[in-house]
Amino acid sequence: MFDNITEDIKKRMRYLEEMNERQRKERTPGSERLRQIPPETGKFLAMLASNCPQGNFIEIGTSAGYSTMWISLACRERDIKVKTYEILPQKVKLAKETFKLAGIENYVELYEGDVLEYLEDVKDISFCFLDAAKDVYEQCYDIIIPNMKRHGILVADNAISHQDILKPMLEKAINDDRVDSLIVPIGNGELVCRKYS
Ligand SMILES: C[S@@+](CC[C@H](N)C(=O)[O-])C[C@H]1O[C@@H](n2cnc3c(N)ncnc32)[C@H](O)[C@@H]1O
Repeated sequence: MFDNITEDIKKRMRYLEEMNERQRKERTPGSERLRQIPPETGKFLAMLASNCPQGNFIEIGTSAGYSTMWISLACRERDIKVKTYEILPQKVKLAKETFKLAGIENYVELYEGDVLEYLEDVKDISFCFLDAAKDVYEQCYDIIIPNMKRHGILVADNAISHQDILKPMLEKAINDDRVDSLIVPIGNGELVCRKYS
């Protein structure tokens, strides 16, 4: 999967990695920043997604589409689309540009607006990457788990970098007897939950 990433995807990844790094150094205000995952987390997502059962792939928090490009590698293997949700118009614009330039429009469906307006309608979820505002994590988790397929995977970002603010949601997941869960120290810390029934 990682051996045949297209040049268009690699080029757009490099462009967004540089933009993300520049914004971090320049301390660009929060909502304007890309705040994207590092490449190792992207590879981790792609590997997990490529081994999920058949079903719907979703991503909550698109930003400029960097993590979507990694997930799209698993989508290409299966010839499916990931549904990705973004609330900010300026990020939606960048994400559209990414999907076009990276040549992955066949593997992505972008939904504009608050994910909570859409999420109840998505059933048979087999993979979810949750990376949005921290105050919607728990609500998203509560909607997603009942609509997740057996052996589906949910990954939530910032489980270590924002462990204080996410504590109630993380404790809920760790103690949830519908899923096996653990926190993986990669990137910003990833909560990984696998539904087992
Ligand atoms: C950390 S960034 C996502 C980074 C992206 N996953 C990546 O790694 O390339 C979080 C994004 O979630 C979006 N967001 C926050 N709350 C949201 C909501 N309720 N619905 C949809 N998008 C939301 C923000 O506008 C922001 O662009």
